[in-house]
Amino acid sequence: MSTPKRYTITAALPYTNGPIHIGHLAGVYVPADIYSRFLRLTGNDVAYICGSDEHGAAIPMRAKKEGVSPQVIIDKYHAIIKKSFEDFGISFDNYSRTSAKVHHETASEFFKKMYENNQFVEEVTEQLYDEEAKQFLADRFVIGTCPKCAHEEAYGDQCEKCGSSLNATDLINPKSTISGAVPVLKQTKHWFLPLDQYEDFLKEWILEGHKKDWKPNVYGQVKSWIDDGLRPRAVTRDLDWGIPVPVEGADGKVLYVWFDAPIGYISSTKEWAAREGKDWEPYWKDKDTKLVHFIGKDNIVFHCIIFPSMLKAEGSYILPENVPANEFLNLEGNKLSTSKNWAVWLHEYLEDFPEKQDVLRYALTANAPETKDNDFTWKDFQARNNNELVAILGNFINRVIVLTNKYYNGVVPTPNDFSEVDQQTLTELKAYPAVIASSIERYRFREASQELMNVARLGNKYLADEEPWKLVKTDEERTKTIMYVALQIASALATLAEPFLPFSATKLKGMLNHVPVAWNAIATEDVLIPAGHKIEKGELLFAKIDDKEIQQQLDKLEATKKANEIANKQVEPQKETATFDDFTKLDLRVGTIVEAEKMPKAKKLLVLKVDTGINVRTIVSGIAEHFKPEEVIGKKVTVLVNLAPRKLRGVESEGMILMTETPEGSLVFINPDQDAVTPGAVIS
Ligand code: 2FM
Ligand code: ZN
Repeated sequence: MSTPKRYTITAALPYTNGPIHIGHLAGVYVPADIYSRFLRLTGNDVAYICGSDEHGAAIPMRAKKEGVSPQVIIDKYHAIIKKSFEDFGISFDNYSRTSAKVHHETASEFFKKMYENNQFVEEVTEQLYDEEAKQFLADRFVIGTCPKCAHEEAYGDQCEKCGSSLNATDLINPKSTISGAVPVLKQTKHWFLPLDQYEDFLKEWILEGHKKDWKPNVYGQVKSWIDDGLRPRAVTRDLDWGIPVPVEGADGKVLYVWFDAPIGYISSTKEWAAREGKDWEPYWKDKDTKLVHFIGKDNIVFHCIIFPSMLKAEGSYILPENVPANEFLNLEGNKLSTSKNWAVWLHEYLEDFPEKQDVLRYALTANAPETKDNDFTWKDFQARNNNELVAILGNFINRVIVLTNKYYNGVVPTPNDFSEVDQQTLTELKAYPAVIASSIERYRFREASQELMNVARLGNKYLADEEPWKLVKTDEERTKTIMYVALQIASALATLAEPFLPFSATKLKGMLNHVPVAWNAIATEDVLIPAGHKIEKGELLFAKIDDKEIQQQLDKLEATKKANEIANKQVEPQKETATFDDFTKLDLRVGTIVEAEKMPKAKKLLVLKVDTGINVRTIVSGIAEHFKPEEVIGKKVTVLVNLAPRKLRGVESEGMILMTETPEGSLVFINPDQDAVTPGAVIS
């Protein structure tokens, strides 16, 4: 294990245009939290930094959708996000927001310094403009076809399909997302960061310097962009929501959100340091500090190319040592989507499972999309809880606590000589802190979580092999040694579990009534919990989750699916024009169904007798899957009476009953819902 260091760990600032969902958690916040907690436990000086990203196009767009001002939106979602992170046990040292004064000042100063050092190219260029909305279109205000991968819904700054970073004018067939209009080109002045001038620096720093230690998905993306050649990129926008460009001649212009947001990491660190009476600068400027950015894969270009070039240009900052990005998490086979409400929202999860923060942390870690996209399913969530947390970890701890209380009134017994199995078990235990640390230090949190579970497996196997519950009747002294060894494992678990399962680790520490051992001490100390120490009575660490609870979550998703289907249902295009003469050829009448029975051996057909006023006639109708015969008798319906008769399964049908379909796919009658009309009345 490495010597203690200073760490600045950042987690991508979430946009305040919606709440946090499991995709954000699995991709960024849970791994960064495990990493930060682990580093604190192993004696490092850690600043774990985050905050809300409150500028950019996403916010005014959401505001427009909800019919309120952008300020209302950022205040609403900032509060929801901040609280849900706290309740979920994400241990940020500071959670700020980019609307804070300290951030506006920091971002403005950053821009000004670069401006004064002539690090921007000031240029008037033609940009996309929406003449209806009277607004320039960039970023999310415009979609079009990606020139790289042909994805038809690429944004003006990025294609979310292939990850390419784009300029809005690169899009093929651009369309305004505000009005739907096809934009025109209009001249406007902007400040560009000449990324082409940073190519050599980026090549040396990343392509040569981080080939081995950066994750292959991150390294690969960065390499392909650099190999493609980098182009200057505008860092200002014609928008009225954001940080005003702090130089003369920039009225009505704001900083590009991706210019200001990463500076938010710095301002959040400043806010934290001021509160804690610390100096923020070493966390960003001392070359012995290790800076690590945890991000989602759609943020790679901004954190590996644009922000580092800004830091390099400004000149006084360190660069990130690593930028671990995960792949995407899907939900029950479909892409997570805020706009389609296809998500497990953190604040809703916490309402439905108020005591189960660790279960979600564990399920997301054990199934993390570290090397490829992965799927979250509620069944897997249940299995991770019932088969691993309850059956392995919870079971081991429960046995140790219950038996210690039962046999020794809760006092850790004095062991006798250790057998070979005892020694072997204790030696294996000592190896785990380094094994788990090595996985965490290589950002393999999935693997680390499984190694943690292996510690509990070691304990379970030991107890199952040694069977203290049998031996206690015949060999009390041997039983004491076994329970002592098992208690050492439980004590180690209270520390090793903390980064992954902080709530359960706290509970376990309470049960053991014990100052927790240091991570590194597990490998070096022989006694983790001493003989004579009194533990507390137990409580279950984890409870089983039953099928009903899982079904409720699945039902919720099913309801979302239905709602989306209804919202997306396409209206059929209008048919060819019919003349009045065409229309008058159709003889539509009010009718009453007087008899109904199923057509033998036909799933879909009912044979109806309909009083049309003209006569009572037979009509065969394909409604048997939607109505029982007895439900339709007496119903007033609209009948096309002069449709040419035709035989269906040998029965002649003389007309057609008009129906329509609900968005959910149920058939309903077009019924003249008025008592006064009688069969035979003409519809015209
Ligand atoms: O993708 C996002 O949600 C961005 N708001 C992430 C910003 S990260 C950082 F640069 F602030
Ligand atoms: Zn693309």
